[in-house]
Amino acid sequence: MPTFRTLDDLDLAGKRVLLRVDMNVPMRDGVVTDPARIEKIVPTISEILTGGAGIVLASHFGRPKGEVVPEMSLAPLAEVLSGYLVDTEVIFSADGAHVAHPGEIVLLENLRFNAGEEGNDPDFAKSLAAHGDIYVNDAFSCAHRAHASIDGVARLLPAAAGRLMQQELEALCGALESPIHPVAALVGGNKISTKLGVLENLITKVDHLIVGGAMANTFLFSAGLTVGQSLSEEDMAETARTIIAKAKETGCKIHLPIDAVVAGALEAGTATATVAIDAVPADQMILDVGPKTTAAISALLSDCNTLVWNGPLGAFEFEPFDRGTNATAQAAAKLTQTGSLLSVAGGGDTMAALANAGVTETFSYISSAGGAFLEWLEGKTLPGIAMLMG
Ligand code: 3PG
Repeated sequence: MPTFRTLDDLDLAGKRVLLRVDMNVPMRDGVVTDPARIEKIVPTISEILTGGAGIVLASHFGRPKGEVVPEMSLAPLAEVLSGYLVDTEVIFSADGAHVAHPGEIVLLENLRFNAGEEGNDPDFAKSLAAHGDIYVNDAFSCAHRAHASIDGVARLLPAAAGRLMQQELEALCGALESPIHPVAALVGGNKISTKLGVLENLITKVDHLIVGGAMANTFLFSAGLTVGQSLSEEDMAETARTIIAKAKETGCKIHLPIDAVVAGALEAGTATATVAIDAVPADQMILDVGPKTTAAISALLSDCNTLVWNGPLGAFEFEPFDRGTNATAQAAAKLTQTGSLLSVAGGGDTMAALANAGVTETFSYISSAGGAFLEWLEGKTLPGIAMLMG
């Protein structure tokens, strides 16, 4: 596993710690609808405070593109975070003038209100660095952005990973950098075109690539099967064939659905049928994998030691098309519980799909990162991680 600096390498007493976190949480009408990202940074915050330091928290929220957009202010999140801390009030400082004394937590305004953040402007990085003696990055989900608070500032201050970042890196390295084989990757979602880099990297690393979601339809179409009205990218058929050919060379076995749940429309409660994969009616669309496919995947996983999962197997937002994802997730969770499988998952939809399957607590690790998790699956060097190495 690559070595990176952590809180263990820092002397925190009496210091000011500039802590990059990801408070880019889903909100509706001013209310946080999923606080997972906030809950997950609490251990790092508590440990730094206990170590005798003060904390200046820095985060972005949304994509205001260098403009001050009041609805994207981080001010309301100071109170939300305070609710997760014992006896510590988070002080919101819009102008950044409040100095964090030991035991204090100051939250800066949305970094992206300043164009220097996304532009990785050295002057903006310098102004951020002035808030701390030490820089800690606990935002794996932002590690793919070479922004001032991720890259620039880490060049100016001693830099280390927070506990969440550390946990994330250890889980991901265990799953793909130095895993116990056989390794299976399950990739679902709609489009090959958005996950081409992921598929190309995975076939060089894993023993089994399980493809689901509408993405599988393109593979099926490329093999000459009829996919009816299903979502598929016909212009990606050649690419799908190339991936299959490359996978043969690298010794990665690709697994496609062998049966499917079809319907005339993507609607909850619509009439459905389960058909063999070579018998999809011309007027129907594939909306989930069928029970034979989930049984085959479960059997395969019981022969594997490691699973990396990104993307749902079907249109899980609509019942009953969540059944394939649920059954597979529950099978993986059971194998994880018995200790025979290390299961690591990540990505926006994936977190929601696995929560819907009720396995959030049972998987070995579920990352709350979206784009960063995908870029990591592509095998890219993430700028935020590179700055913590050594
Ligand atoms: C995310 O939600 O994936 C991170 O906060 C990064 O956000 P971004 O895609 O706007 O950079």
